[in-house]
Amino acid sequence: MKALVLAGGTGSRLRPITLSAAKQLIPVANKPVLFYALESLVAAGVTDIGMIVGDTADEIRAAVGDGGDFGARVTYIHQERPLGLAHAVLVARPWLGEEDFVMYLGDNFLFGRLDGHLERFRADRPAAGLLLTRVDNPGAFGVARVDPGGRVLRLEEKPRRPESDLALVGVYLFTPEIHEAARAIRPAGSGELEITDAIQWLIDRGRRVDSTVISGYWKDTGTLDDLLEVNRSVLEGVRPRVEGEVDDDSEIVGRVRIDPGARVVRSRVVGPVVIGPGSTISDSYVGPFTSIAEGCRLEDAEIEFSIVLAGAGIRGVGRVEKSLIGKEARVERAENPPKAHRLLLGDHSRVRIAP
Ligand code: TTP
Repeated sequence: MKALVLAGGTGSRLRPITLSAAKQLIPVANKPVLFYALESLVAAGVTDIGMIVGDTADEIRAAVGDGGDFGARVTYIHQERPLGLAHAVLVARPWLGEEDFVMYLGDNFLFGRLDGHLERFRADRPAAGLLLTRVDNPGAFGVARVDPGGRVLRLEEKPRRPESDLALVGVYLFTPEIHEAARAIRPAGSGELEITDAIQWLIDRGRRVDSTVISGYWKDTGTLDDLLEVNRSVLEGVRPRVEGEVDDDSEIVGRVRIDPGARVVRSRVVGPVVIGPGSTISDSYVGPFTSIAEGCRLEDAEIEFSIVLAGAGIRGVGRVEKSLIGKEARVERAENPPKAHRLLLGDHSRVRIAP
């Protein structure tokens, strides 16, 4: 069995971060979200991985390489434009050949092992096997109606009136039958070739599409809130470890990982928190559910429930929360009058200033 990992796309909901970086490489607890997907596939014994890449191909290649670090063999497949998940399958057709494959959305996060799902799929070999999860807002997802045995009767992408609360998780199991379906369908109203339409095409022709409702945690990290939420859950499992320096005037509480070369000076850190190599935290408070990447500098700052990317600096500002601070970004107090906000923001930035 092969894997097709989707790491192209537009990432419009995470602009401006995605204008300069691949969303699949945004770190969760200081590790790119895509790496969790690769590790999960390899743990399930799937090592032959095709990686769909688009505009951010160079960055993904630089991070993943030939896959050797993960125990995998990665082949890059270029998708000219992000024309939909079924389009990615079409583009990968020559590489996939006649093998069954698991398609994994590279910005999705799934706790729990894949082995059991793969084994069942191999044993039953339906045309497609879907993983589903119950959600409160099914209208935001692909939604499935299933019979009591788990057979999928109908699929709809972001329905206005959802027929169930079962959303499609971004991990799909396919036999080569999906190729005929991907060729047959036309772009949806969104302009994209939707994978849900391709799977519905199989259902309409009487092919069996099975499903399993997963019990574990799943999230798409496509929006800021979801990303922070995934970061929160992963940090809850972080192993506390202090390898950096913490001075006597600092206090570390709860699950906190401080990487080598990081320094905490006259500060209070309340976990779960990770602080990456070479970062300095001084005269600051770092609160729960915060990931600070490598080479960051926090001075006289307060932050919680946030992700700070490599090389960013925060100095002299009151509490920052629920935020994503980009690489090398600066958030600072204006020292001199006038008491005004001065901003240099990338396109599509969002700022909420407390009065
Ligand atoms: P989405 O999050 O559905 O799409 P997107 O990346 O375009 O984001 P947005 O809606 O915010 O603009 O994509 C799911 C995953 O699949 C993600 O890792 C990107 C990837 N993808 C491709 O590789 N090719 C595609 O054509 C599409 C649509 C997505």
